[in-house]
Amino acid sequence: MDPLHDWRITAEPRYQPQGDEVALFEAAWAARLPVMLKGPTGCGKSRFVEHMAWKLGRPLVTVACNEDMSAADLVGRFLLEPGGTRWQDGPLTLAARHGGICYLDEVVEARQDTVVVIHALTDHRRQLPLDKKGELLRAHPDFQLVISYNPGYQSLVKDLKPSTRQRFCAFDFDYPAAAQEAAVLVAETGVAAPLAAQLIEVAHAARRLKGHGLAEGISTRLLVNAGTLIQRGVAPAAAARMAMVQPITDDADIRESLEHAIDALLT
Ligand SMILES: Nc1ncnc2c1ncn2[C@@H]1O[C@H](COP(=O)(O)OP(=O)(O)OP(=O)(O)O)[C@@H](O)[C@H]1O
Ligand SMILES: [Mg+2]
Repeated sequence: MDPLHDWRITAEPRYQPQGDEVALFEAAWAARLPVMLKGPTGCGKSRFVEHMAWKLGRPLVTVACNEDMSAADLVGRFLLEPGGTRWQDGPLTLAARHGGICYLDEVVEARQDTVVVIHALTDHRRQLPLDKKGELLRAHPDFQLVISYNPGYQSLVKDLKPSTRQRFCAFDFDYPAAAQEAAVLVAETGVAAPLAAQLIEVAHAARRLKGHGLAEGISTRLLVNAGTLIQRGVAPAAAARMAMVQPITDDADIRESLEHAIDALLT
């Protein structure tokens, strides 16, 4: 049985490049260098890594990190069973053992004592010590580690140590430029190009408010949600309110200014 079966990507995840990130990722992959993706929520980080895993023919083992996560959740643990105990590889170990891309999403959420388990895997050693099991795993030649986080939410308590950061190549992601974002919207939802452009202008109005009462602007993900609703028959202004404005803030002033943008752009 293929231990990475569940993580194989069989259909191409559609990805609209923003620049030369596909070629750069391929170069990092060729050298098996660990990669860090940074950027705001809903800007295409996960989609990019899914697309790259598919393109490179590697399974993608994704882990959503959180502060309760322990090293054992990544590496593995002994399970108690009627006949005794049985070791079960964690997701990081599975990818390292069998040659997958391991994607640690929102890695800054994990505690630092959890994150350090990746250190020996992400330098020249490419090893994962499984202390409890008494095994020193040498990573499969096709193993690669990718991590992502949103620098916007970063706080002093939640940050990566320099010794962790300085193992990675990094890609700075942001929302795509207008023409590319329109191409994403059209491809993902089927909305007409002029309407896509208008929705994106509303998103730009919100993105300009980031830091002025808004933690994050309207993401590409929310634009896609609005386009999806429009394709199901919802009027564009209503779709923009429901998918783009109401989720992001409860602040009356910000809502009002975005409401103006909708009135001006989507009638
Ligand atoms: N470059 C792109 N090409 C195709 N689709 C995109 C692109 N960028 C964003 N999208 C669309 O936006 C959605 C959200 O993107 P994605 O899930 O990759 O965001 P993310 O950066 O991983 O966000 P988060 O940090 O919240 O996990 C995707 O499901 C896809 O529909
Ligand atoms: Mg993601």
